[in-house]
Amino acid sequence: MQSASPFTSKIYERIVVLDFGGQYNQLIARCVREAGVLAEILPYDAPLAAIQAGPHRLKGIILTGGPDSVYVEDALNCDPEIFNAGVPVLGICYGMQLMAQLLGGKVGPAEVSEFGHTDIAFAGHRLFAGLSEEETGEQGAGRHVWMNHRDAVLQLPPGFTAIAKTENCPNAAFADENRKLYGLQFHPEVRHSPGGRRILQNFCYEICGCQGDWQMADLSQTLVADIRRQAGGSAVLCGLSGGVDSSVAAALVHKAIGDQLTCVFVDHGLLRKNEAAEVMAFYKDTLGMNIIKVDASERFLGKLRGITEPEAKRKIIGEEFIRVFEEEARKLGGADYLVQGTIYPDVIESGHGKSAVIKSHHNVGGLPLDISFKGLIEPLRSLFKDEVRRLGETLGIPKALVWRQPFPGPGLAIRIMGEITPERLFIVRESDWIFREEVAKAGLAEAVWQYFTVFTGVQTVGVMGDGRTYDFVVALRAVTSSDAMTVEFAELPYALLRKVSQRIINEVAGCNRVVYDITSKPPGTIEWE
Ligand code: XMP
Repeated sequence: MQSASPFTSKIYERIVVLDFGGQYNQLIARCVREAGVLAEILPYDAPLAAIQAGPHRLKGIILTGGPDSVYVEDALNCDPEIFNAGVPVLGICYGMQLMAQLLGGKVGPAEVSEFGHTDIAFAGHRLFAGLSEEETGEQGAGRHVWMNHRDAVLQLPPGFTAIAKTENCPNAAFADENRKLYGLQFHPEVRHSPGGRRILQNFCYEICGCQGDWQMADLSQTLVADIRRQAGGSAVLCGLSGGVDSSVAAALVHKAIGDQLTCVFVDHGLLRKNEAAEVMAFYKDTLGMNIIKVDASERFLGKLRGITEPEAKRKIIGEEFIRVFEEEARKLGGADYLVQGTIYPDVIESGHGKSAVIKSHHNVGGLPLDISFKGLIEPLRSLFKDEVRRLGETLGIPKALVWRQPFPGPGLAIRIMGEITPERLFIVRESDWIFREEVAKAGLAEAVWQYFTVFTGVQTVGVMGDGRTYDFVVALRAVTSSDAMTVEFAELPYALLRKVSQRIINEVAGCNRVVYDITSKPPGTIEWE
């Protein structure tokens, strides 16, 4: 089964990012894209021929960070030929250490590990050109680069010189100008390195000689061309959840192949209040798509009966989704491709390549292996949510849909701790409706990334009227974020929280206590399961 590489139409300058499994690697690609250069992520061991393949002009290669040490047995290795490919290479953290080791330097445990904000002194170098005073500090001391390493380059490879240092790391960045090879021990891609974006931009423009011939608006054209090429004249099915990602994916595919696309909206019985009706009205009336609604609630809820383990729930839902799609495809006389709105955080958190599995997002890790479609069309696989939203806007999708809060494919199942029962679904659905109403009334709907309620499964003693109650606790979860990879809990006004709490306890039978979740991500995740 193969999925569409998103970038294969017009000829652009291209930077390849080799992924060694760090959690934030996609941010590197994103910074490159934001700098106006097409970025494509490939697995760490992609052979040089694969890196050079395709219509786009390779201008540079970036090696990302990763969780391992370069000197352990089975350490991840890149094709050493990339250093002779005639394009600049930038190694970041693990990538820098790997470059050092492969080219004759020495890497080992640092005397002092560095984590978090670290002062750094930059040499005058093109990579660091144009950093503002705040970013570099008065004497070139950057107070804000973000370090995250136990190992370090202890001895430079022949031909390299150090171009930045910290108190404990004399080789915090290095360069071999003759071969155009560079390394950064710190992470320029994270927001905690305020000069980092500029450094990546300098790599693209000053070092690789890019002109910046790519922009977000080009994305829809390249994706549409790509989808046409992949789908040919085939019939295509799209699973619509009503969420932003599947809507944008569907709109793209609709633009590419029109009526060859049929959308299937599965009501798995785990939707929010009124959601099914709203979604149907929207796609049919506003977007004019072929759309079929399948009421599969009994089937899903039956399979989920007695299941309490979060990963088991996700796998069941993922599998059932595919089975329903397959059945619909058969009814339609067969479909070769299935469109999914998978976005990059889904891929990375489902344990892509060498990253740790955090949870199986239903449209990635939950896929059964015997899926009977010829292939998947996943045009958003390399993008973050806010990039998807911007793409949605360029496609003319109404703001109300593009800026809807994200809703997970497994729906309320992962907001009900333990077994899913009609009573629990009622509590989470009604309390969620109240929370949404009040957030909207407070004018905060767009300021908060996601806000919902969770059925905690915990019962507590309360007093209502003159009597004792022993009912369930509902948790409120509201977070701010720009990409769902890291989040802060939202500092909602107390007056709003009070109102929501009062309404939930008064209006939702079976619930006598409301708590507010004040956990960020990491260490928490947005959803409770
Ligand atoms: P977590 O809980 O991992 O959520 O911090 C990150 C974002 O992903 C959504 N989410 C999912 N979306 N299928 C989806 O389509 C899933 O299985 C899934 N699990 C979490 C979550 O709502 C948040 O926006």
